Amino acid sequence: MSDTATLTDGRLLEVRDLSKYFGNVIALQDVSMFVRPGEVTCLLGDNGAGKSTLIKTLSGVHKPSAGEYLFEGELVEFNSPREALAMGIATVYQDLAMIPLMSIWRNFFLGSEPTKGVPPIRRFDIDHAKDVTREEMAKMGIDIRDPDQPVGTLSGGERQSVAIARAVYFGARVLILDEPTASLGVKQAGVVLKYILQAKKRGIGVIFITHNPHHAYPVGDHFVILRRGQVSGDYTKEEIPLEQLVSMMAGGADLEALSHELQSAAVEEHDEALAALAHDVEEVGGDHRE
Ligand SMILES: Nc1ncnc2c1ncn2[C@@H]1O[C@H](COP(=O)(O)OP(=O)(O)OP(=O)(O)O)[C@@H](O)[C@H]1O
Ligand SMILES: [Mg+2]
Repeated sequence: MSDTATLTDGRLLEVRDLSKYFGNVIALQDVSMFVRPGEVTCLLGDNGAGKSTLIKTLSGVHKPSAGEYLFEGELVEFNSPREALAMGIATVYQDLAMIPLMSIWRNFFLGSEPTKGVPPIRRFDIDHAKDVTREEMAKMGIDIRDPDQPVGTLSGGERQSVAIARAVYFGARVLILDEPTASLGVKQAGVVLKYILQAKKRGIGVIFITHNPHHAYPVGDHFVILRRGQVSGDYTKEEIPLEQLVSMMAGGADLEALSHELQSAAVEEHDEALAALAHDVEEVGGDHRE
């Protein structure tokens, strides 16, 4: 716990020079980022950039290969997601870990059932669970008519919001969302973006992973762009207009895809000129994003 005194600007969670290797694969290299309470940090990047690996490391699924992980200025090491959750670091994965045939309230309390009475006659307090579910969803602006409704009958956006409301209710201080809007239509994505803002208003530090700058920009305070396991850009909203964020994401992705295609063609045809071209295109793609 050497230089933690430098953490004076209210950073809730921070990583410094974090690296993660899987055998020879370098999934993350010297990544530094942070999140403050009441702020939304957007994590953007193409497929394979390392976004999921980074949040799995933050949420205790992976251990870092190198680097520091600080929570409230203290070095931490998590051996499991449960340990991270106990500190208030909650992660909502895209597949959500919900049971579609179970009711909304059961899913809300999955793994943390409230009980009443004293042992040995403790039992699950169903009425309380239903009330809490209804209230918490209402706080997020969703009117649940019937908490007995199976989760599977909710829309994708509503299901995401149950997961977010649940994390908030159980004391999340950092909320990590891995591509919550990826499979949603415009309207449903809007619903989820609204809850991200609600969580922010309640003082939670949000890490929002997305491919889509149009989803990130309206809610984000801060944008971290990952490219091949490294941070290729880190901007506050004041520092980067939407158009620039869009062109960085889109232009870079297209050029990278093109470079890959050229590279494979070069290998197939043993063509050095093509290989050189692939290299040039890749360089331009890199510049494009700096
Ligand atoms: N368990 C693992 N073992 C080996 N390599 C892995 C493992 N997990 C991730 N990787 C590699 O690390 C790199 C980053 O993957 P990651 O899933 O973090 O990317 P991502 O940014 O989340 O991509 P996407 O947008 O497709 O979800 C990839 O090259 C991937 O193949
Ligand atoms: Mg991913």
